[in-house]
Amino acid sequence: MENNTVQQQIEELRSKLHHYNYLYYVQSQPEISDFEFDSLMKQLEALENENPELDDPNSPTHRVGSDIISEFKQVTHKYSMLSLSNTYNEGELRDFDNRVRKDINQEPEYVCELKFDGVSISLIYENGMLKHAVTRGDGEQGDDVTANVRTIKSIPLKLRGEGWPAEFEIRGEIVLPYEAFNKLNEERLANGEEPMANPRNTTSGTIKMQDPSIVARRGLDAYFYFVPSQIRLTESHSQNLILAASWGFKTSEHTRVCKNIDEVLNFIHYWDKERHNLPVATDGVVIKVNSIAMQNNLGTTAKSPRWAVAFKFQAEQAETRLLSVSYQVGRTGAITPVANLEPVLLSGTVVKRASLHNADIISSLDLRINDIVKVEKGGEIIPKIVGVNQVERHPMNQPVMFINVCPECGTPLVRDEGEAKHFCPNENGCPPQIKGKIIHFIGRKAMNIDGMGEETVELFYNTGLIRNVADLYTLQISDMAQLERLGEKSARRIADGLQASTQVPFERVLFSLGIRFVGETVAKILVKSFKTIDALLAATLDELTQVNEIGSRIAQSITDWFSIEDNRILIDRLRNVGLQFEMSEDQMAGSSTKLAGLSIVISGTFAQHSRDELKELIEKHGGKNVGSISKSTSYLLAGENMGPSKLEKAQKLAIKIISEDEFMTMISE
Ligand code: IVH
Repeated sequence: MENNTVQQQIEELRSKLHHYNYLYYVQSQPEISDFEFDSLMKQLEALENENPELDDPNSPTHRVGSDIISEFKQVTHKYSMLSLSNTYNEGELRDFDNRVRKDINQEPEYVCELKFDGVSISLIYENGMLKHAVTRGDGEQGDDVTANVRTIKSIPLKLRGEGWPAEFEIRGEIVLPYEAFNKLNEERLANGEEPMANPRNTTSGTIKMQDPSIVARRGLDAYFYFVPSQIRLTESHSQNLILAASWGFKTSEHTRVCKNIDEVLNFIHYWDKERHNLPVATDGVVIKVNSIAMQNNLGTTAKSPRWAVAFKFQAEQAETRLLSVSYQVGRTGAITPVANLEPVLLSGTVVKRASLHNADIISSLDLRINDIVKVEKGGEIIPKIVGVNQVERHPMNQPVMFINVCPECGTPLVRDEGEAKHFCPNENGCPPQIKGKIIHFIGRKAMNIDGMGEETVELFYNTGLIRNVADLYTLQISDMAQLERLGEKSARRIADGLQASTQVPFERVLFSLGIRFVGETVAKILVKSFKTIDALLAATLDELTQVNEIGSRIAQSITDWFSIEDNRILIDRLRNVGLQFEMSEDQMAGSSTKLAGLSIVISGTFAQHSRDELKELIEKHGGKNVGSISKSTSYLLAGENMGPSKLEKAQKLAIKIISEDEFMTMISE
């Protein structure tokens, strides 16, 4: 009886939260404050925690992202996901219209929609509940990315209203609004990471991430624009969209029904300009025959429907003069040529610079200083040069000669075979590379030095206090405190931060050194195999490549790095100030291969260990912690409050379920 009321309470909270979520994210018309929303969410979380048997993957509490996904399951689309044929001008579009009218021998109505520039997605609902979200893949099979898609707040986890078929499928586009994209890039720049090129690439990278909780924080959104015609809803596409909107899907408010191709062209002309004011990226207009009966009459080709076509917007172009080319040196030593242009207005912003990427691009454009060049702003934030106005070229214009020495330190540049970019090899003597290395070293995922950031590194470097990462540990509070913009308090904080970093485990120290191709994962693998820096230093190419997941490119980079005397001196200095260059005794003492080859799913809460601790234990003993249950799972390590769906799945696949105690026995035996 009591359980029943708890269940009712939970259901009520869920449905309230679904509703307020819809008002906020789909309708943009919130009815309650964030505070009220959060407090309802907290109540629900508490009840669900106390009553794990009532868990539901579509509960609003799961929007924050659940377990790590080890691999995406391939799913075959029930109806293949076709793409659209493209048109680029009025003539081609009129050809499409003529063909349609001829084929059906009637005057069709068209629906005009914006073409969202993101990643297409197919959602499958069973009895009104979201079951699967599948990417397009090759059109026949895609990846099951449900755990990530659940975190997109504008996507209904449970359908609203009524009348939806028991099995329902809808297609749309996942997008990353410009605001979220810009915010992400600001964060990346602050972390010393390369900014993402455009929202579409970022969306497709995000939707394939293995950690749904990161996806949840990215701020993805989605628009829905198509219900496969085999699912008979109404007589027309436009009515289908209205119905879908009533079930809670976000559909575009800019969709219009047009009586003829001239109305379609008006729509296109309007959005060609106006699209720059939209919150998301669009790259065209999609024109669809409205009547489903006519659509069925027209049919499809193997690749695309005959009843729809995309009209692609031309990227906006402008012409301006190339004044000069300058060269930037990145922190890995990569050289990027940049065109300096006479300022010109393009898509609402003044463009003064354009990236030229590498020497090949410059020569394929046959660029000459003083040329009138065509600049284009496509999906990328940085405009690019797409061509030269040959008619305007003055015969005396001189070709752009790519530099052969580093503009920062004068060292002759090198270009490795197969590499598009030139590099400055003077790793330890070239200022932007030195600063870049130090910035990487202090970063959050590396040594995480409290109180320091990019600006402090600039300041210390420019005032001559530091020349490499070992110098950081010789900094005196009094020296730092004397500097403008840094007081005694900040200096003390930095000193404490540096002191604390002597406890950072070896794998992160190794990552912090900034050896090319040695990222977080590779560093972990190396530490597991070699255990000490001396063993790693002594390792030959052969020994390195024998380690699983270490290829010859990584191995070569490691031996190259250690062969430089300055680097070995650096290690000695860092070792002398107390940094960790060996696997900790704890790690060494406890490690074994008892779980080698086993993949283990953790679910629920445990009496003796946190989930992170259990994950560490699994890895320490050679096992693999995976996020979701599949045929290849060896064990389900089950705690309390485990979700019933996981349990059911494990039972169905006959996967052995073990308790925390049993697990501890397994690794201690
Ligand atoms: S309809 C069978 N409508 O464009 C018709 N697609 O180039 C299915 N897209 O794969 C597609 N906005 O990812 C349709 N309003 C819209 C769209 C749209 C963006 C994407 C979609 C599709 C691609 C084809």
